[in-house]
Amino acid sequence: MAGAKVAVFGGRRGMLGQALTRALERSKAVALPLSSQDFDPLDARALESFLDRQKPDMAFNAAAYTAVDQAEDEPQAAYRLNRDLPALLGRLCAERGVRLLHFSTDFVFDGRGHEPLRPGDPTGPLSVYGASKLAGEEALRGLPGVTVARTAWLYGPGRTNFVTKILELAKTRESLNVVHDQEGSPTYTPDLAALALALAASKVDGVLHLANSGRATWCELAAEAVHLAGLPCRVQPIPSSAWPSKAARPAFSVLDTSAFTEATGVTPRPWNQALRDYVFGDLGLGV
Ligand SMILES: NC(=O)c1ccc[n+]([C@@H]2O[C@H](COP(=O)([O-])OP(=O)(O)OC[C@H]3O[C@@H](n4cnc5c(N)ncnc54)[C@H](OP(=O)(O)O)[C@@H]3O)[C@@H](O)[C@H]2O)c1
Repeated sequence: MAGAKVAVFGGRRGMLGQALTRALERSKAVALPLSSQDFDPLDARALESFLDRQKPDMAFNAAAYTAVDQAEDEPQAAYRLNRDLPALLGRLCAERGVRLLHFSTDFVFDGRGHEPLRPGDPTGPLSVYGASKLAGEEALRGLPGVTVARTAWLYGPGRTNFVTKILELAKTRESLNVVHDQEGSPTYTPDLAALALALAASKVDGVLHLANSGRATWCELAAEAVHLAGLPCRVQPIPSSAWPSKAARPAFSVLDTSAFTEATGVTPRPWNQALRDYVFGDLGLGV
């Protein structure tokens, strides 16, 4: 990626976007991180003017409506960001020969399977958020120079996330109850950013899955983070029915990343190794 100019939508304040910006800078690419404060990317004229002025070689779209429960009450806002933005970006990038790497989610699946999910497996979103992200994928389907990277269960520097929330609570509580009947692919954003750069370099079109390897429930992820941080808090498993949320979430959404590995030769490391780097390195906790 050295020397390439890459626009990163969500790249200034988003959790994944910030990791992408850092990874690009480390690889000696020219990152153009963007925020909603710079201009409204759904304003076609503003977006066209940005693309024509900056002439990026690639665009990474990590801007999204990510408030999963709130989306149930704000479907228009969710579809605006998650369907209409990739649709516009896809069209304008294709017209200019700019490659686009767009991020999507494991929440496009219904969670009824038991085997790690491959990119071609049937979708069936359970929530407005999942349906709006799937609509974004569909808007990009078949466009030349477009890659859709589905990822899952993100944590990393730069933004409050599941791991930071659990560790904050664990500092003051003797025990925490955490859902143990949803299983997924916890993924560290700096790892994901490195995988995304490998994918971008491979110039593969279509949908791929990118995540740390292995699988965990929310309870297992929380327990490992609390253990690594050396906190005495007990993490107790509970069913989702004991933790009601507005949006339904898939019970099983572990992602199979083998198509990514076939395309790039890169194997994602296990989630628990990545979690160690986050807890010890970024958060400065543990022994
Ligand atoms: N978080 C997860 O666990 C998870 C799991 C699976 C997939 N994903 C996908 O991964 C991607 C990145 O997620 P994330 O967790 O990094 O998201 P995030 O931290 O919530 O960041 C989303 C970014 O979207 C930008 N944005 C929101 N509204 C905007 C608007 N109207 N105009 C322009 N930009 C706007 C925001 O930029 P400003 O701050 O500048 O407004 C924000 O930085 C998304 O596509 C998401 O669907 C996330």
